[in-house]
Amino acid sequence: MRLKGKTAIVTGAGSGIGEASARVFVKEGAQVAVIDWDESHGKRVADELGDRAFFMKADVAKQSDMDAMANATLERFGAIDILFNNAGVSCVGTLHETAESEWDRVMAVNSKGIYCASKAVLPHMIGKKAGCIINMASGVSVLGLAQRAAYTASKGAVYALTRAMQVDYCRFGIRVNSIVPGTIYTPFVEGYLQRHYADNMEKAVENLKKRQLSGTLGTPEDIAYAALYLASDEAKYVYGSGLVVDGGFSAGKIFD
Ligand SMILES: NC(=O)c1ccc[n+]([C@@H]2O[C@H](COP(=O)([O-])OP(=O)(O)OC[C@H]3O[C@@H](n4cnc5c(N)ncnc54)[C@H](O)[C@@H]3O)[C@@H](O)[C@H]2O)c1
Repeated sequence: MRLKGKTAIVTGAGSGIGEASARVFVKEGAQVAVIDWDESHGKRVADELGDRAFFMKADVAKQSDMDAMANATLERFGAIDILFNNAGVSCVGTLHETAESEWDRVMAVNSKGIYCASKAVLPHMIGKKAGCIINMASGVSVLGLAQRAAYTASKGAVYALTRAMQVDYCRFGIRVNSIVPGTIYTPFVEGYLQRHYADNMEKAVENLKKRQLSGTLGTPEDIAYAALYLASDEAKYVYGSGLVVDGGFSAGKIFD
């Protein structure tokens, strides 16, 4: 019960890492607003979580949706202690191959989404001089990966913004950290593999596994437990960090 009595908002909680995080947060005693723009997925998760969760359909890139999300959470639970800015979309391609509309879509969800959601909850956290914001970065925030121009730009912004937010809000007792995952097997990665390696998914997964020192892909729970740590009081001295959870992807390479 590491989050007993706390209230959390998890964006993109209808699938993958967000879903696992909402489940872990509830299991650890929190009340959770399950936010997703996909109604069927988000509703299913909230229904399964029971009384300590509710679903709201919202687009993180729309300020009016995020204001409504903050108001609905305050109305239902009376407080917002934790905001997990997890929602995100992927995009494959070099810069010159990326259509302007794709660039705008990825930056809108992955980067502006954090601005909109945080802007909506910060007045409440500032008012009570306490809060915890967790932003979803990525291994590509710090390490180049082929064919990820827009996605990398959007996640680099998240990584940098986390520190800027931390500097501004530490005086209000608000901690702001990011998580830097490696490859986590979720519908996000599965969809990518199906689009690009439909004829040999098994081989593609094996190749992905070899990139990590662990020799495995991460699970949504691996990231959910990192989010739990950052959200809990155990992380009360963790400020402005980028918590790497990547099976050793960024630590080094094995040559054999
Ligand atoms: N899976 C990985 O390997 C990996 C690695 C690094 C970072 N990440 C990041 O982790 C986060 C979650 O990824 P995942 O793998 O669980 O993906 P996922 O596709 O399984 O889940 C993402 C969820 O976000 C929701 N969403 C997308 N855009 C939204 C919007 N505008 N408003 C509200 N909801 C929206 C989707 O409907 C979906 O339910 C993303 O930010 C992703 O970039 C994932």
